[in-house]
Amino acid sequence: MIYLQSYKRSKVAVPVKIDPFHAIAISRLAHRLRAEGRSVIHMEFGQPSTGAPAAAIAAAHRILDADGLGYWESPGLKSRIAAHYGEAYGVAVDPERVILTCGAVLALSCLFLPGARVALARPGYVAYRNTLKALHLVPVELACGEAERFQITAAAVERLDPAPEGLIIASPANPTGTIIPPEELKALADVCKRRGIALVSDEIYHGLSYTRPAETMLQHAPNALVVNSFSKYFSMAGWRLGWLIVPQTLIDAARARMGNLFLTPPSLAQHAGLIAFDCREELEGHLNTYARNRELLLTALPRMGLRRIAPPDGAFYIYADVGHLTNDSLAFCEALLRDTGVALAPGLDFDPVDGNGFIRLSFAVSTELVEEALRRIEPWLAARELVAVAAPHSDEHSVR
Ligand SMILES: Cc1ncc(COP(=O)(O)O)c(C=O)c1O
Repeated sequence: MIYLQSYKRSKVAVPVKIDPFHAIAISRLAHRLRAEGRSVIHMEFGQPSTGAPAAAIAAAHRILDADGLGYWESPGLKSRIAAHYGEAYGVAVDPERVILTCGAVLALSCLFLPGARVALARPGYVAYRNTLKALHLVPVELACGEAERFQITAAAVERLDPAPEGLIIASPANPTGTIIPPEELKALADVCKRRGIALVSDEIYHGLSYTRPAETMLQHAPNALVVNSFSKYFSMAGWRLGWLIVPQTLIDAARARMGNLFLTPPSLAQHAGLIAFDCREELEGHLNTYARNRELLLTALPRMGLRRIAPPDGAFYIYADVGHLTNDSLAFCEALLRDTGVALAPGLDFDPVDGNGFIRLSFAVSTELVEEALRRIEPWLAARELVAVAAPHSDEHSVR
């Protein structure tokens, strides 16, 4: 009886509502179609279609036979990552500042108290917006259009009133692949320092650049919190291994969070990650493939009527405006997938306001597959143009 009364009085916890990752629904459908025997081309997720480097896989096989794979944090990998900052950017990083992680979310939990306002770009990586909400933080989305190449500028941060507690930038960005030039990075570092804004720099697509190298924010803001991962350049998305470079003052907080939430990252992935640093030739081969794919798409898509594209400086994405064909990017991607077998990500994932007029193509697949995808997409888009002229914006909704 006593139990029942107190039970009735207690408030039922309602979790913060966050949006789904719509590309997952597209991917599920793609896998279902494939299981039914359809030919499917996966360009919906931001992941290389190649596996981990061959030497890393070979080492993993050996380690599986020899090691118990308990909870473990690799001192060798932390030192190797720290050394990488010296080699690649000329920035000295103490290995103690390297926190091995299994995902970018940890960065946000280290920095802010509940209720803090954190600015980020729209369009931008869906999980940042949603993770902020899940952590009871308040995303402040800054609309970034073609004029700014879909990137946050120091001027936009300057205009925010009141100043947010935090700012997340990503360069190269997801979903556009655009890189913030060094002078703008410096201006962002300056405005954040002056206004007391904590800076998170997502550098997860570093190593994947076509037009200019990407600088680390540490070159301009030594106290920025840097996010990186083995998922993209190193082609190890499913190994779930990444890292943070945290300022000296946050080492204990970051270690405490990592230890309590995850204990350690996967041991096998850490062994393989260390080897992957020495597989540059193979990894640069992937980059050459992406560069060819990028060129192909940038030539073919405008010919098919998709002219409004920010040519990606890096990463492996093209964010294309299809607003003349649809006002429902999820239904558009579903129809494209059902009709052609080509799976793309809906812009809605990256931009809840204007994203329904955009799609994202991930070109981290073989050049043959990009060519085949283009062969399938071209007539489909042409037919769509005719339908759009006759009956504008008549999509169905069923993957929701
Ligand atoms: C900008 C950005 N940050 C972080 C991530 C998360 O990557 P992971 O958790 O695989 O390291 C992604 C994944 O697509 C991304 O695009």
